[in-house]
Amino acid sequence: MPSTTPDVMISAQAIHKAFGGNEVLRGVSLDLMRGEVVAVIGPSGSGKSTFLRCLNHLETIDSGTVIVEGEVLAQNDASGKAQYVSDAQIRKIGHKMGMVFQSFNLFPHLTVLENIIEAPMLVQKIKRSEIVPKAEALLKKVGLLEKRDAYPNRLSGGQKQRVAIARALAMDPDIMLFDEPTSALDPELTGEVLRTMRELAQDRMTMLVVTHEMGFAREVANRVIFMDGGNIVEQATAEAFFANPQHERTQAFLQNML
Ligand SMILES: Nc1ncnc2c1ncn2[C@@H]1O[C@H](COP(=O)(O)OP(=O)(O)O)[C@@H](O)[C@H]1O
Ligand SMILES: [Mg+2]
Repeated sequence: MPSTTPDVMISAQAIHKAFGGNEVLRGVSLDLMRGEVVAVIGPSGSGKSTFLRCLNHLETIDSGTVIVEGEVLAQNDASGKAQYVSDAQIRKIGHKMGMVFQSFNLFPHLTVLENIIEAPMLVQKIKRSEIVPKAEALLKKVGLLEKRDAYPNRLSGGQKQRVAIARALAMDPDIMLFDEPTSALDPELTGEVLRTMRELAQDRMTMLVVTHEMGFAREVANRVIFMDGGNIVEQATAEAFFANPQHERTQAFLQNML
């Protein structure tokens, strides 16, 4: 049975997803616990992004169960096909999760501050006078208060990504999903983004992070999951995972990352 106790933030069970005839997720299961940081690693095309996107309904699953903080997003019907809850319920569950993508996706025509307050005002109907101080506090937290009125094209990639993190946090998510947040950055800019993520982890944010940054996975993640060919091949505590990878495919992957 999928677990639904409050400390399980996301329970994903036996997720199957195909695009046409291409089965991309072949029964992926994961329980993400409150305050836990889980790193998802694996070769390109192994289904990491698709898995993340299935959790917050950017993709729909074919079969399996997704439960977020005890609330069902999708579960199988009698025929074994996933059925989703109502649109209103999907939206409500979606707001529990913030997502940060590889490509920062800031609105180019809005200032940094406006990028952050847009969704809280439009979606959550929060008053400008209430959200602006909060947005400023978030900008301070990611070290970019002085960029408050700048447009995204004036920012470095690392700064853009920190704004994207602040923007996601402005919606007060309980869980943050990151899909290769540093992969589009020049190497000298990854550190500032990883530092922001590390601080978030120290604040006990629940985080699921697809990454190629093995240092981050090793130092910040509680648990590391290795995906290959649409399956979770191996998972362990970060320490055990890197010290003693069990599966041949994991060993080969880690060899190549060195
Ligand atoms: N929207 C889509 N339509 C068709 N195929 C897709 C789509 N998204 C992903 N795929 C395919 O699913 C597989 C897994 O992709 P993805 O989840 O992006 O892997 P990863 O993030 O591990 O690199 C790939 O073969 C990819 O081409
Ligand atoms: Mg991907």
